[in-house]
Amino acid sequence: MGKVICIDGPSGSGKSTTARAVAESSDVLFVDSGALYRIVTWLALRAGIDTSDPAAVAAFVPDVKVDFVVKGSRVAYEVDGAEPGDAIRTPEINAHVSPVSAVPEVRAVVTAWLRAMPRLGDIVVEGRDIGSVVYPDSPYRFYLDCDPDERARRRQKEDEGKGFVQTAEQVKASLLARDRIDSTRKTAPLKVPEGAIVIDTTRLSVAQVVARILEASGATQSSSHAAK
Ligand code: DC
Repeated sequence: MGKVICIDGPSGSGKSTTARAVAESSDVLFVDSGALYRIVTWLALRAGIDTSDPAAVAAFVPDVKVDFVVKGSRVAYEVDGAEPGDAIRTPEINAHVSPVSAVPEVRAVVTAWLRAMPRLGDIVVEGRDIGSVVYPDSPYRFYLDCDPDERARRRQKEDEGKGFVQTAEQVKASLLARDRIDSTRKTAPLKVPEGAIVIDTTRLSVAQVVARILEASGATQSSSHAAK
């Protein structure tokens, strides 16, 4: 079984950027667990499923087929032979993904996918319940926190780059609404995993956070994975 580095935290805490950078500067593969919840949401919406109906979502999720393919330093997800790209990062998906990811049957399927990933190699997985539920026994568990205004600022900048223009207030409201659902849901709520190392990223650079994680997890600095 490969090494698993777990990085949890709220939206905009820097998990994704950090986990990608950890993968690119060491011998581990980047795994984005939120993208899997987004893919289920995207396919459910495409199939006309009412995402506010947990029974309908639960009945749909066994139909979802995703292929896991190592590309450079990440595990890529393909649906019908192609990566969905930014189609899973629209404001519409943002609005539906939290209720979908609160459905226990969805969580069970995504958790099983994630637990199978170490077959592909050592991994760094970012999400909300990775250190608490998916890999509670991993010795390398981190929780990134950050001030909400700074999180909204980061997310707005990211969204602008994808062509989604929203005000800072809209971005912050959407992010806090997701935090609320993610932290209060019954199954696998967002929380600091017991024993995890907590890093407040508000005033830290990505490089500083990455250095702390690499040091604490004993990941070897390497460039064996070409940046893709
Ligand atoms: O990290 P992200 O914004 O792409 O995550 C999208 C949604 O998926 C987020 O609202 C919470 C959910 N999620 C989750 O419940 N558990 C995870 N391990 C990862 C994401």
